[in-house]
Amino acid sequence: MKTILITGGAGFIGSHLVRHWVEKYPDTQVVNLDKLTYAGNLENLKDIESRPNYTFEKGDIVDADHVKALFGKYRFDAVIHLAAESHVDRSIANPMDFIMTNIVGTVTLLNAARAQWGNDLEGKLFYHVSTDEVYGSLGEEGFFTETTRYDPRSPYSASKASSDHIVRSYFHTYGLPAVISNCSNNYGGFQFPEKLIPLVINNIKNRKPIPVYGKGLNVRDWLFVGDHVSAIDLIFHKGRKGETYNVGGHNEKRNIDLVKLLCRIVDRKLGRAEGESEKLITYVQDRAGHDLRYAIDSSKLSGELGWKPSVTFEQGMELTVDWYLQHEEWLRNVTSGEYQKYYQGQYGGRR
Ligand code: NAD
Ligand code: DAU
Repeated sequence: MKTILITGGAGFIGSHLVRHWVEKYPDTQVVNLDKLTYAGNLENLKDIESRPNYTFEKGDIVDADHVKALFGKYRFDAVIHLAAESHVDRSIANPMDFIMTNIVGTVTLLNAARAQWGNDLEGKLFYHVSTDEVYGSLGEEGFFTETTRYDPRSPYSASKASSDHIVRSYFHTYGLPAVISNCSNNYGGFQFPEKLIPLVINNIKNRKPIPVYGKGLNVRDWLFVGDHVSAIDLIFHKGRKGETYNVGGHNEKRNIDLVKLLCRIVDRKLGRAEGESEKLITYVQDRAGHDLRYAIDSSKLSGELGWKPSVTFEQGMELTVDWYLQHEEWLRNVTSGEYQKYYQGQYGGRR
């Protein structure tokens, strides 16, 4: 039986990936290492927590002794590393957490893998999950390819860029088998409502102002989370070691158009009058250093490995709105307590 370590498995993408792996690969033991920060939630994995091939380990990837002990205990064959501080706005308010988890945490995992695997590298893999934000910001035209020069512009993207470089350096210097993917904006169920889509759905539902940064003209390239998971699975099994693969769905949307679409979908599903929720849209102070546009060219992944997204943007949005409307309790639980404080700090003084 193979044993795989997935870090950050209690978060948004991680929980989808863990569920996928546990269900699709019953002969693989999946160990989920997660610190359970505000973004980590074991409720996300309730349906699979008692599966025999699933184990949860609470811990911090920065804690070298703990990480080393886990490598000794489970003798992992592979790592899929997702644990990270992931929200740009929080990185602006508090960069240090990002430096620690995203950079030091990644190095800690790499060191533990190297020490455990030694020269026995047959079948071993360190898969680093990263973001398109490392490439910086595009103008009106063009796409990020795997050879686009790194130009991170927020503490979050700079910390992810740094971790990508370190992973590559371990491949080149020590021969550690590694692969990296850089993905565009994900959406779907279980996403923490600090991120645009779940935040907007929650606010529409509760008839609260919808905060749109600046003029709402920034563009993001949206991908349904299940399609990111299928890309990770494919790259894990078929990707070439030492390579980078961009993942994206060619769904570029201006924020304001996305927000208006969500208003229309939620209004329809809740039986509200047409145009009612658009009145909640409130333009607020822009994000500092706000990247204008992201757009991914994923032709290497589709050409080399045959990946393509299975869910259209329109289907994905319907599925996502349904998910949040059907998971009232989940939404209520994650938006009580700490979230209220965060929300007040982030949006209270923003005009
Ligand atoms: P998330 O914030 O929802 O989840 C992160 C998880 O990591 C949480 O469960 C948290 O508890 C855990 N974690 C944080 N610090 C930790 C630490 N020090 N030790 C152990 N666990 C820790 O993030 P997400 O949106 O699911 O993103 C997952 C990964 O994918 C990240 O590496 C992110 O950079 C990358 N990514 C995200 C997107 C996106 O759109 N969300 C797109 C591309 C890449
Ligand atoms: O591109 C991949 C990245 O996508 C991931 O690496 C990050 O982990 C993930 O958080 C996401 O980053 P963004 O900054 O693009 O996502 P966010 O949902 O925070 O914001 C999306 C856009 O919406 C962005 O242009 C900022 C804007 N926005 C966001 C919030 C939270 C608003 O206008 N209002 C808001 O309240």
